[in-house]
Amino acid sequence: MTAVRTAAAAAEVANAFSALRGHKDRVEAQSMRQMFAADPQRFQKLSLTVDGLLLDYSKNRLDTAAVVALLDLARAAGVEARRAQMFAGEKINVTENRAVLHIALRAQPGESYVVDGKNVVEEVHSVLDAMAAFANGVRSGAIAGKGGKITDVVNIGIGGSDLGPAMVTLALSPYHDGPRSHFVSNVDGAHIHDTLAGLDPATTLFLVASKTFTTIETMTNAGTARKWIVDALGEEAVGDHFAAMSTALDKVNAFGIASDRTFGFWDWVGGRYSVWSAIGLPVMLAIGPDNFGDFLAGAHAMDHHFLDAPLDRNLPVLLALVGIWNRNVLGFPAKAVLAYDQRMLRFAAYLQQLDMESNGKRVTLDGSSVSHSTGPLVWGEPGANGQHAFYQLLHQGTDPIPGDFLVAARAHEPDDIHHRLLLANCLAQTEALMKGRTTDEARAELLAEGKVPTEADRLAPHKTFPGNRPTNTILYTLLDPFTLGRLIALYEHQVFVQGTIWGIDSFDQWGVELGKQLAKELLPMIEGTESADKRDASTAGLVAAIAALR
Ligand code: F6P
Repeated sequence: MTAVRTAAAAAEVANAFSALRGHKDRVEAQSMRQMFAADPQRFQKLSLTVDGLLLDYSKNRLDTAAVVALLDLARAAGVEARRAQMFAGEKINVTENRAVLHIALRAQPGESYVVDGKNVVEEVHSVLDAMAAFANGVRSGAIAGKGGKITDVVNIGIGGSDLGPAMVTLALSPYHDGPRSHFVSNVDGAHIHDTLAGLDPATTLFLVASKTFTTIETMTNAGTARKWIVDALGEEAVGDHFAAMSTALDKVNAFGIASDRTFGFWDWVGGRYSVWSAIGLPVMLAIGPDNFGDFLAGAHAMDHHFLDAPLDRNLPVLLALVGIWNRNVLGFPAKAVLAYDQRMLRFAAYLQQLDMESNGKRVTLDGSSVSHSTGPLVWGEPGANGQHAFYQLLHQGTDPIPGDFLVAARAHEPDDIHHRLLLANCLAQTEALMKGRTTDEARAELLAEGKVPTEADRLAPHKTFPGNRPTNTILYTLLDPFTLGRLIALYEHQVFVQGTIWGIDSFDQWGVELGKQLAKELLPMIEGTESADKRDASTAGLVAAIAALR
């Protein structure tokens, strides 16, 4: 089977989509509240637990017949075949002619993933071993800066070279026993300036993280960091205070970072799928190689579940199919990611890149226009904070926004009242979003509070919640490295399944290029060395206004 769909395969997918849409009216005829009342087994039927990881998708406007139709769509779209192609190292990223093998980054020694006839797992483990030796050296002080043991590690990278390690390092802070971690991504000088304020150059280690080692934001920040070191400690200190993670080893060398402090990865690792590779070095420095190994093992466990479990018992497949239902049948354009875990502060931002850079596409693998909406807008903040900010719109706004609620049964902290409250809040929100409150119920509550009937009538519409708003709940025991690895891999494979159904290339990102190109053209205009007269009137006007204000 080739990556691009044949006409017959496309027709099969179109048929499966129209069969799926045939379920909409029946499902929509009842509210979720009615569906729960009618079927006491609904939770059992529409939830799945695998090794302590629970996906409850029963609070969606779905029924088992619709799920069967979704599974038929997945089969018609060739999810199983494309999954096999990915695992076989085929070049399913057709616009860049690359394999997609982040799964190989968490393979166990002895497993085999083959790209161009070569098993890459050995190379993966030799880089992991080199990272571990370096991380152990830095953590013990055997690899030191000019001022002794490294106290602060500053990762300089952007996009996939920042979001993964930044998100994971924060999420796993209970395991953090290495040097302090900092992440600089924005080309805005404020970011590196504020990060370096208070740091001691003599005990600071910079990690320059860039797959391409050409990204202007990262290279600009790396240059500023280099100058900061050279100004404080002299040119000869650069070697001791920098390390790099990249696929472009020649460019790293030209920057002046020695090969024994350079950790490589490969073109079959997409930036947004790279936290498992050398790009995870800041995580390893923070939590140590053993915990990093558990993180990889969690993802590996999810890979095997994704590969081996039948589609109807497969967590990433079910999560993806619920998303397809919400996006393509019910037409919801957004999805909220609401982790009830303060340490998951950057999880929504991480998923934004994973999902939106992967599936924010408008043409299929053969370049023709897609016939369905593709990736939703993904956004979110941790609960319970969001409850006191934007949940108003989730409950009573005009557009339903499906949400994924993530929560651990247990906390790391001993003072359990916090966690019991957190859990109660998480469950309360999904219950409220599902059940809502009818106007009659609102009115009755107002009367019970002692309001006179006219006042109860006046206020009841404002206190009515439509309910019937879809959510998934993802519940796990504790946010440990293994679990976080499973969770991220769950979402990676969800994105893969959806991209396969939509027939798009989830592994390129051409949509980021035009802005980069135009920024290069505009820089000399901002600097005043070229005229902006030939730009559109707005851009020319803004260039002139900036010049007047600078
Ligand atoms: O511009 C988008 C992007 O290419 C992302 O896909 C990537 O994660 C990020 O930039 C950083 O790229 P690099 O690691 O090559 O610096």
